[in-house]
Amino acid sequence: DWTMHAFREAEIARIRAQVGKGRVICGLSGGVDSSVVAVLLHEAIGDQLTCVFVDTGMMRAGEAEEVVTLFRDHYNIRLIHSDASTLFLDKLAGVTDPESKRKIIGATFIDVFEQEAKAIGGADFLAQGTLYPDVIESVSFSGGPSVTIKSHHNVGGLPARMRMQLVEPLRELFKDEVRALGRELGLPAAFVGRHPFPGPGLAIRIPGDITFEKLEILRKADRIYLEEIRKAGLYDEIWQAFAVLLPVRTVGVMGDGRTYDQVCGLRAVTSVDGMTADSYPFEHAFLSRVATRIINEVKGINRVVYDITSKPPGTIEWE
Ligand code: XMP
Repeated sequence: DWTMHAFREAEIARIRAQVGKGRVICGLSGGVDSSVVAVLLHEAIGDQLTCVFVDTGMMRAGEAEEVVTLFRDHYNIRLIHSDASTLFLDKLAGVTDPESKRKIIGATFIDVFEQEAKAIGGADFLAQGTLYPDVIESVSFSGGPSVTIKSHHNVGGLPARMRMQLVEPLRELFKDEVRALGRELGLPAAFVGRHPFPGPGLAIRIPGDITFEKLEILRKADRIYLEEIRKAGLYDEIWQAFAVLLPVRTVGVMGDGRTYDQVCGLRAVTSVDGMTADSYPFEHAFLSRVATRIINEVKGINRVVYDITSKPPGTIEWE
């Protein structure tokens, strides 16, 4: 891909010019965007880059291990694995408002980065995988008056007290272009093809307050759902698929007993850039199979629903 080859070369030159001999810290989320940023930066400035994987405790099952293996072992990128799950859970305790959750997570991310930056003797720059849609969705909507739909955790810059400057090499790209750049940089196909995952993670897939128990329930349901999607060969046809854990309990019957457990929502959408989306038209039999497995295998869930809302008027995430 000639365009991406040219973009890669131009960005590498631009990063070198911006950074000079400075040290850069980069947050890795496990998503395509931050992964591409990390590999691009590593190519541009080598060991001037340190990546930090902040385990917020709001990750999917198996996520942390995959990220550490790819970047530390495969790419030899300096990587700090920062387990901040207790900190995030404490800060989020009792918080139910979606925007508050996002703001708390954004602020906590910055705190953890700041600490990790100090621990390695300081960094001059912070690299982020901010994309073009993140930038515009945080600023305005549909050309109308400026309204914030969702505060993306990684937009809006850093507090004034911090001396780090931002490096955001993907700021002008859409998702499909980031994937093309990832392929250009030689990232494994399975990694480049990963569904997007939001910075605030599972916190915005659990309406209401967040607890470790709820996170564990959601991780189990989500893993089953994605396993079935992969097994059916549908993963690459779908822009994004995930489970949501609703703060609603309903009555059910299992064996000869009554259950009173939570509802799991399933979401899957097709999209080109995340700005608009359609619900994915699964076969009924597929959804039944997933629902049965989740209810049988995940203690705490006794009902499964499928979200058929498009964007707009819905958004992809529930918060
Ligand atoms: P919505 O829910 O706004 O999501 O339709 C559009 C796309 O953006 C992702 N998303 C985020 N990504 N930080 C991110 O890095 C965030 O705070 C965030 N919020 C939503 C979402 O998963 C979807 O792909």
